[in-house]
Amino acid sequence: EVPSLAERYKKSFDIGAAVEPSMLEGTNGAMLNRHYNSIVAENVMKPISIQPEEGKFNFEEADKIVKFAKENDMELRFHTLIWHSQVPDWFFMDKEGNPMVDETDPKQREKNKKLLLKRLETHVKTIVKRYKNDVSSWDVVNEVVDDSGELRNSPWYQITGTDYIKVAFETADRFAAKDAKLFINDYNTEVEPKRSTLYNLVKEMVEAGVPIDGVGHQAHIQIGWPSLQEIEDSINMFAALGLDNQITELDVSLYGWPPENAFPTYDKIPASEFERQAVRYDALFNLYERLGDKISSVTFWGIADNHTWLNDRAEQYSGVGVDAPFVFDVNYNTKPAYWAIIDEE
Ligand code: G3I
Repeated sequence: EVPSLAERYKKSFDIGAAVEPSMLEGTNGAMLNRHYNSIVAENVMKPISIQPEEGKFNFEEADKIVKFAKENDMELRFHTLIWHSQVPDWFFMDKEGNPMVDETDPKQREKNKKLLLKRLETHVKTIVKRYKNDVSSWDVVNEVVDDSGELRNSPWYQITGTDYIKVAFETADRFAAKDAKLFINDYNTEVEPKRSTLYNLVKEMVEAGVPIDGVGHQAHIQIGWPSLQEIEDSINMFAALGLDNQITELDVSLYGWPPENAFPTYDKIPASEFERQAVRYDALFNLYERLGDKISSVTFWGIADNHTWLNDRAEQYSGVGVDAPFVFDVNYNTKPAYWAIIDEE
């Protein structure tokens, strides 16, 4: 058996993996137990899974992941209390069934805002109370800034301004365990103009007393992008605000953006690609380790190359195609990237 990743990085941070409830058994289960000491749900804890209809909470799938984490003594990240995607429409409909975003009357808009914040509060409160003793890190809001560096113009924002962020954190804080950490999570946190917008938003909120404990950096990155310097600067910026950092959805795509000319099948990926990827992983984990006191957890957005959302991405842009973003291959065997990150001391 090869050395455990979690064991290797124990002194610096947790090593996590995103899973579906179907990925807790067999080889996946064994991999989780050997290499990871933290898990997160890839989909089943999102608003649309947990509260598809108002007041009808569905915890069945989420519970499976919570149970696995408990039984195997793993940390659990919760992803995600609030998001603009994978959220059911009912949140944003007024009592008459009209979309709140279309309302023009100021009085009615004020009422709608109240109603939406109430729904948000109920959602957050119900979940956080249920999993209070199980979750160590909460993604409270996800992707509230967009790529152009504006606050994301989601229904949440259109109806409440930034109040939804504030209320989400305050509600989570009221019901979460005292030592649990509350995160604002996003992708491309390394690159301008998004990085500065996120920084300014977080700084303002922290100064106003909003209980944010840390920044989740998704890290859906590529072999050549973003630069190590940008990654380091971003971690340092948020750490300087007194915040924790977690790497929450790490994958290192073989491709640029968009992923055109993807390799059609896994066996068509040349070995040189895996070598290139290993160099990147080596540099990345050297950096994470060097910044270890500012990073409490590094989670991969999957376990092995046989299951990754990036395959859908590759297919979408190339017609056919697969990606290979992790350190274990489609058969759970170690890739050069694994040896690159297990080695360095
Ligand atoms: O569950 C349905 C299934 O019933 C149906 O037959 C099938 C047909 O397409 O779709 C299934 O739902 C899919 C779902 O994943 C569960 O597999 C959705 O279509 C698909 O869009 C969804 O994709 C997820 C995506 O978030 C949604 O935006 C990916 O698995 C998941 O990896 C991805 O994760 C996000 C993070 O939450 C936030 N950061 C970015 C990251 C990658 O996009």
